[in-house]
Amino acid sequence: MTTRKAAAVILAAGQGTRMKSRLPKSLHPLAGRPMVSHIIATLEGLGTDRVVVVVGPDGAAVTEAVAPLPTAIQARPLGTADAVMAARDALAGYEGDVMVLYGDTPLIPAETLARVLDRRHARPGPAIVVLGFEPEDPGAYGRLVTGSDGALLEIVEAREADADQIRIGLCNSGVMAIDGKVLFGLLDAVGNDNAKGEFYLTDIVAIARARGLDCAYVAAPAEELLGVNSRAELAVAERVVQTRLRAAAMADGATLVDPETVWLSHDTRLGRDVWVEPNVVFGPGVEIGDDVEIRAFSHIAGARVSDGAVIGPFARLRPGAEIGPDARIGNYVEVKAARIEAGAKANHLSYIGDAVIGASANIGAGTITCNYDGFTKSMTDVGAGAFIGSNTALVAPVKVGAGAIVAAGSTITRDVAADALGIERSKQEAHPEWAKRFRARKTAAKAGKVGKRAKKKTREAG
Ligand code: UD1
Ligand code: CA
Repeated sequence: MTTRKAAAVILAAGQGTRMKSRLPKSLHPLAGRPMVSHIIATLEGLGTDRVVVVVGPDGAAVTEAVAPLPTAIQARPLGTADAVMAARDALAGYEGDVMVLYGDTPLIPAETLARVLDRRHARPGPAIVVLGFEPEDPGAYGRLVTGSDGALLEIVEAREADADQIRIGLCNSGVMAIDGKVLFGLLDAVGNDNAKGEFYLTDIVAIARARGLDCAYVAAPAEELLGVNSRAELAVAERVVQTRLRAAAMADGATLVDPETVWLSHDTRLGRDVWVEPNVVFGPGVEIGDDVEIRAFSHIAGARVSDGAVIGPFARLRPGAEIGPDARIGNYVEVKAARIEAGAKANHLSYIGDAVIGASANIGAGTITCNYDGFTKSMTDVGAGAFIGSNTALVAPVKVGAGAIVAAGSTITRDVAADALGIERSKQEAHPEWAKRFRARKTAAKAGKVGKRAKKKTREAG
């Protein structure tokens, strides 16, 4: 794909009422990042050189999310033409193509936008190119009225359409590319004498035609133009994004045993010959090396896993987990802000937080780093080749030297020197024959009770 110079205006000032959310609609996430960021990433892929996001007066959260891109504020939601007008200052002097996109239509691929821009520059060059589609139910979408030669004559909003126009299946997606030299002149001529009393961006097509400028459309599959207006539609969009991400992961050489059950983030990076079993969730910020095995029901976010490691089943890697080459993180093991070095093992039931576990160290079942005293987090440092016995509490800050052994069941509060034994247990007592005597006493007592009950019964009967 060649890069095409264009500016883009992303409209995100609408209310998004149907989401029933405090979060602005365009900030609802898909694959771990806001919808609007998906659009911005697509535009980056296209080589767009200026992007302006139009927000409402309460759009501070969007402004923060899209920074350093500029936002323009639309004071009142007077319609899509008015929203584009809000970007006028931000685009002052821009003479290239201006694309208009919606903040709630996040699935459009860069290739499709490229087709829109290419059409603008095909001869004869139309002043406006609209992206059309044929939805299953045209419902409230604007209709594209075309001439016999395929030219775009006007866009009619559903509410304004007559009986013939409402039967048109070709609809306005909202995406347009407009010659920047004429855009604001056209917008100046848009009025609001219509069913909604709004300034319709769609009116610029008829206005351009009246000024002798050509308009055209290109069509795209409806799936790419899915708009998100409700949580149900958000879930549908998530599925589309996940399907794309899974396909890309497999194309890049990862095995997803049951792809439908693996959830990826926009930035998940899986190496070659990674093996992912069913029901694995990748949150944002995960990087997995080559030949890694991720077994069923693991949850991984903000973590790096090096080549040859085995994770899970039922493992949890939280932000800051760094798993070294060939390390093993087994079932019910949680790792947070900790570096597990090459070949180290924590195979069962552990919490390792704020720690460094040296190469080839062995962390026994039930080992817990006590990293938090309610106020501060402290570090645990386990040296290379150390062996931590089962059910050990490592009370941080604490160090276990290389090659040291910690006896099972210890609560370690002081450093253990390299190659030393650290043990913290009360002495075990031994009482020979105690169990045997205990059983004999209990058995006799039980027999006595049974005897008394039998006598009582006999008395009552007599
Ligand atoms: C619009 C189109 C319609 C098209 C449909 C596709 C117009 C007049 N109609 O209709 O032809 O088929 O989208 O989904 O353009 N927005 C603002 N400020 C406003 C109004 C809207 O920023 O004052 C933003 C919204 O946040 C949204 C987008 O513009 O991202 C579309 O607005 P919406 O009101 O949903 O337009 P529709 O009536 O659906
Ligand atoms: Ca809409």
